[in-house]
Amino acid sequence: MIDIEQLTFTYPDGTKALDGLSLRVEKGESLGIVGSNGAGKSTLVSHLNGWHLPQSGSVRIGKLKTDKKTAEQIRKMVGLVFQKPDDQLFMARVYDDVMFGPSNLGMEEAASHAEAERLLRLFGLWELRDKPPAHLSQGQKRFAALAAVLVMQPELLVMDEPTSDLDPRNRRMLIGLVNNLTTTKLTVSHDLDFIWETCERVCIMNKGKIAADGPAKEILSNRELLEANGLELPLRLQGS
Ligand SMILES: Nc1ncnc2c1ncn2[C@@H]1O[C@H](COP(=O)(O)OP(=O)(O)O)[C@@H](O)[C@H]1O
Ligand SMILES: [Mg+2]
Repeated sequence: MIDIEQLTFTYPDGTKALDGLSLRVEKGESLGIVGSNGAGKSTLVSHLNGWHLPQSGSVRIGKLKTDKKTAEQIRKMVGLVFQKPDDQLFMARVYDDVMFGPSNLGMEEAASHAEAERLLRLFGLWELRDKPPAHLSQGQKRFAALAAVLVMQPELLVMDEPTSDLDPRNRRMLIGLVNNLTTTKLTVSHDLDFIWETCERVCIMNKGKIAADGPAKEILSNRELLEANGLELPLRLQGS
């Protein structure tokens, strides 16, 4: 589903965010990506839907290599939930934001409406559908952004820090939801307990590279490895 080879990306100010990163993800996998601040996680994520194109190396989603010509097709396959929901929500009403993707992609309207309603009800946002997204709480915005992505039924779901604004109950709800989705999933998070519960495989990123890659429970319980990469054990393992 994802095949990244020797991906390098340097920002205009000279910051090297990705440094020869290679990664393969099979269809149906649930991969967690962890790493300290500035490791390059969000930069990697922005290459998965063609927002950024490789400066060198390549990114393939399914059979398609990301470039200017495939950008539109790739955005249909990849549902990206941004780190900051404010970057994703821009319409006048919550409902319009959720329906923006489906109408843009020319998806069948009645079916999309039914799916939008199902998701908004599930996320407790149906009563708030006429509100401007700016008036929602951070957690509500997070779910609105998630609904806006899931309504397009992406083959690959990519989430950047999905639990950062969620209260414990909503975080638990998201864990259940994510575990019930059969699509390929890639989740970036500092919430290692969330990764523990939702991912079977974990990669640690450090300085724009993959520093470790393996079964989630093995990687996430390896204190030395985590600490060497600026991370700490998941809370569930601390003190044990
Ligand atoms: N727009 C930008 N311009 C310059 N440097 C940036 C920009 N965005 C991110 N960076 C830098 O690139 C590196 C990787 O950032 P990022 O991908 O956001 O890391 P992470 O998501 O792992 O915290 C950091 O050193 C960050 O400061
Ligand atoms: Mg980030």
